[in-house]
Amino acid sequence: MVKVSKRCETRPASGIRKMSVIAASYANVLNLGIGEPDFNIGGNVAEALKKAVDAGKNKYTPTAGIPELRAAVMRKLKRENGIDCDADSILITHGASEAIQTGILGTTDVGDEVLVPDPAWPNYQGQVHMAGCKSVFYSLLEKDRFHATAEEIEKHVTLKTRLLILNSPSNPTGGVTTKKELLEIAQLVKKYNLAVISDEPYEKLLYDGAEHVSIGSLPGMEDYVFTANTCSKTYAMTGLRVGYLQGPKDVMAKIVKIQEGASSCVNAPAQWAAIEAFEGSQSYVGEMLSQYTARRDILLKGLNALPGIDCLAPEGAFYAFPNISKLGKSQQVAEDWLKRAQLITIPGSAFGEAGEGFLRICFAVAEATLKEALARLASILEELPAK
Ligand SMILES: Cc1ncc(COP(=O)(O)O)c(C=O)c1O
Repeated sequence: MVKVSKRCETRPASGIRKMSVIAASYANVLNLGIGEPDFNIGGNVAEALKKAVDAGKNKYTPTAGIPELRAAVMRKLKRENGIDCDADSILITHGASEAIQTGILGTTDVGDEVLVPDPAWPNYQGQVHMAGCKSVFYSLLEKDRFHATAEEIEKHVTLKTRLLILNSPSNPTGGVTTKKELLEIAQLVKKYNLAVISDEPYEKLLYDGAEHVSIGSLPGMEDYVFTANTCSKTYAMTGLRVGYLQGPKDVMAKIVKIQEGASSCVNAPAQWAAIEAFEGSQSYVGEMLSQYTARRDILLKGLNALPGIDCLAPEGAFYAFPNISKLGKSQQVAEDWLKRAQLITIPGSAFGEAGEGFLRICFAVAEATLKEALARLASILEELPAK
């Protein structure tokens, strides 16, 4: 009998899937659990994809990506993120997922410690595990609007710390770390000589004037920061699997070897479509953002009107992260809402210990779905006794 590897056996599983499994036995379910745009890809991107297929652009490409896309990403990073880099410091990847996994594998050795936000996208922990490293968690606190702070991060730096993972705008909290906070983190990065992976898939989904700053654009950070990004969220291209990793040139030249063995290259037609996403009309992105904004406003107002729920306004991404600690433990509340209101949400504890007391509610769904979800909650939640 063949045995599964210890590495695979012990990889932590995502608690997000667990809710979908439980939900499978319920009818008439409203799913506010999935973190995926509900829009189709833009018409111009679909055209570029079809054109590439018809033109026979279906062969292997250079491992690091087609030169035309690497150049487009280089221009995008300069134009939108203030990161001035060469095209050969960019690796085209299968979404941000592979960009992060490759970045971890390329900057750490077995036994190193990696600083991971808590709460956060659960895959960071699994990816760190696959690299044979240890996740050491730093908290994103409600009192800091869930922003990453140098103070919280520094508490966990040891002699073994090699890499810091940042994610802003944040999944699951919607927090957007400010430039001032990032400048303080940048000082810390230099002080302890850390590599940084800055995971920025929600950079364009911003509300109430929040500003996204890439830590890679801050003075002196080009020697430390690997910026990971994707077409998945901004361009609703989750299934096309195109993203990138940009970082210090000498390291990136060697990191390419990881992709060479794993997949040779990213799907060729999808790479051509990504050029259109980055360089074509951005009006569809604006349309999606205005819909997310309207949905966020409905959800935020509705949640804060319910007894026992306090929700900070998400500054970015498409998630609300209400504090439900007055109602109970997050897993228990999520299961209660599923049972009594047929509503799928994700317990905050699925994103780390610091997520306990919160739920993640995704608003990448139709307004009507959100309104129905709020009505169902209003019918099951009773006024709490006054303190
Ligand atoms: C914070 C974060 N990083 C990375 C990813 C992965 O995105 P991709 O589809 O580009 O692999 C996600 C997807 O949900 C995410 O929320």
